[in-house]
Amino acid sequence: MIDMNALRDWRFSIDQQGIAWAVFDREGESQNSLGRRPLEELGAIVERVEQGVRDKAIRGLVFLSGKEKGFIVGADVREFEQIQTEQQVTENVTLVNAYLNRIERLPVPVVCCIHGFCLGGGLELALACHWRIATRDDSTRLGFPEVKLGIFPGFNGTARSIRQAGALSAMQIMLTGSMVRAGAARTMGLVDELVPSPANLRWAARKAIERKRKAKPIGGWKALLRLWPGRGLLASKLRSETAKKVREEHYPAPFRLIDLFETHASNLEGMKAAETRAFAPLILSETSRNLRRVFKLSEMLKAQAPKDLAFKPLRVHVIGAGVMGADIAGWCVASGMEVSLQDLNAEQIAKGIDAQKRLFSRKFKTRAQRDAAKARLIADAAGANIGRADVVIEAIVEKLEVKQSLFKAIEGKLKPGAVLATNTSSIMIEEIAKPLADPGRLIGIHFFNPVAQMPLVEIIKGTGSRAEEVGKGCIFVTAIGKFPLVVKSSPGFVVNRVLGPYMMSALQRLERGEAKEKIDEAARAFGMPMGPIELADTVGLDVCAHVGRIMGMAPAGGNKLDDMVAAGKLGKKSGEGFYVWKDGKPVKAELKAPYDKFEMERLGRELVDPLIRECERVRDERVVESADLVDAGVIFGTGFAPFRGGPLHFKANEEKSNIAVLRRPAAE
Ligand code: NAI
Repeated sequence: MIDMNALRDWRFSIDQQGIAWAVFDREGESQNSLGRRPLEELGAIVERVEQGVRDKAIRGLVFLSGKEKGFIVGADVREFEQIQTEQQVTENVTLVNAYLNRIERLPVPVVCCIHGFCLGGGLELALACHWRIATRDDSTRLGFPEVKLGIFPGFNGTARSIRQAGALSAMQIMLTGSMVRAGAARTMGLVDELVPSPANLRWAARKAIERKRKAKPIGGWKALLRLWPGRGLLASKLRSETAKKVREEHYPAPFRLIDLFETHASNLEGMKAAETRAFAPLILSETSRNLRRVFKLSEMLKAQAPKDLAFKPLRVHVIGAGVMGADIAGWCVASGMEVSLQDLNAEQIAKGIDAQKRLFSRKFKTRAQRDAAKARLIADAAGANIGRADVVIEAIVEKLEVKQSLFKAIEGKLKPGAVLATNTSSIMIEEIAKPLADPGRLIGIHFFNPVAQMPLVEIIKGTGSRAEEVGKGCIFVTAIGKFPLVVKSSPGFVVNRVLGPYMMSALQRLERGEAKEKIDEAARAFGMPMGPIELADTVGLDVCAHVGRIMGMAPAGGNKLDDMVAAGKLGKKSGEGFYVWKDGKPVKAELKAPYDKFEMERLGRELVDPLIRECERVRDERVVESADLVDAGVIFGTGFAPFRGGPLHFKANEEKSNIAVLRRPAAE
């Protein structure tokens, strides 16, 4: 038996009232995740508690986190790569499930205290306890993000969440991977008691043990949904809802989860064993490997913000309240910052501020929070707040001389150490910086439209931009919850550069007479979030024509794109582009017969080819630092099929499997 004093990731103690406290505090990590060692130590704790119960020295067990900010973020994704065979998966999972079963079967009350994130394996541990207490704090979130990694809960969370919350709620949170706040989790039945703050947890846990609290499984009609015929109806409804969001051939995990539910949910004990059988192949699948890669790439992007630089952005000044400026201002406010918004046109500022109401009502649940957000966003036509700002972002017209004269005029007013940035999409940073007394100060912070939806922001390093300013730019972008990608100043940067040839070649196909619906469907069949023609309409045909010109891709003489722009057909925003747009959606011609699957596959691959080739050039020219960063930027900047792991990763895999096919001995 492991000595309880030798535990490294847990602290274990028994107090005078016989309550055992198991505090999870993973050594050397800022967050708790369930890796091999913490799980082995959990096993030792279970054994110790069982012994204590037999000796009548323990009359209750409480799980708590030793981290200030969270309970458990889930399994340790870093360790997944060491698993090679289904047998290994089954052995590992079965061992953990045995610990959780023993926790559940303890004859004394077991309480779980939750503050901050309680996700994946963390929620599965909580569900094996008898009573769950969560803080009402805004940071408390419960959920099963597994589908985002191409798997579903594997520590019997499928059966236990259905038992406690009912099939409807449990399946919904498992299928979407979305997180719920403590209040909603309580309503669902995932949590049994709420307390105002972490300071109340221990006391509430002690009381729950004294009262021998034990949560009951959900009852009433919600419990009936896992029995036939409700189960069959629910399964087919869930299947069709899920199919609207993702394709089974791209993302099988949610569909396997629905199968598991449909076949086994009438017998929750049987479901536990079936869960393990269905889980093992998923975790070893190419899709799951690639989605784990995407997760790691997102961590890599965040890590671009230097840790050793003392810069804490709190105030932002945005100049230009047009399409981009107003939304950049709103997003910064929603991330907790104070923002002043400047424009030549006062009406434009008022309109820009007003437009942020929708974002605030989506982001903030209480009126007080929304009012506070509104108060953090102020109109500043004269630029009176420039000198107070930690970050100044310019988002005015795309004209070199106008930008240069603006920067020259404001340079002397800046606070020392403040970041000075332009949101230009096409002008070289060093050109804009030329007239400045300190040109090394200027960087690009290139947001994408729509700001609230696009996770990536390119940080553009001009030839003279100082590394420190680039680092501060990354810190700022991370502070507003976006992923920074450091990019060398070169035409189109990364995202527009790789999208350019992809969209232009699709438009050429259109000009040659291929149907736009077919082109778009083939790109979606490959895994793109929308097809290139629909994307062109969404971005705006004027913007596409502009980007095409910068990249030297617009054909000389007249072309369809320019003709349409001249005719005022700008795409979604004007109501008509290549498609006619109704209620924010393109009207597509009805299909007479389904497309041929193989033709779609071939066309989809051909469509993304120009994008992949441009990614190779971006890598070879070292526009960003590594091939992985090209993949990261293109996934988060264009939505490139995440389950394929990125354009360069996809190409390398494709080459590997082509070689494997060539090497395979001919069939007899
Ligand atoms: P916009 O035309 O919607 O807005 C520009 C605003 O700047 C207008 O309200 C105008 O009154 C104001 N303005 C012009 N000169 C000014 C000055 N000297 N001082 C203060 N305000 C001034 O333009 P949009 O689309 O928002 O673009 C702004 C910048 O962002 C451009 O550099 C553009 O290349 C870049 N960008 C645009 C994207 C898009 O999708 N629209 C995407 C990424 C970057």
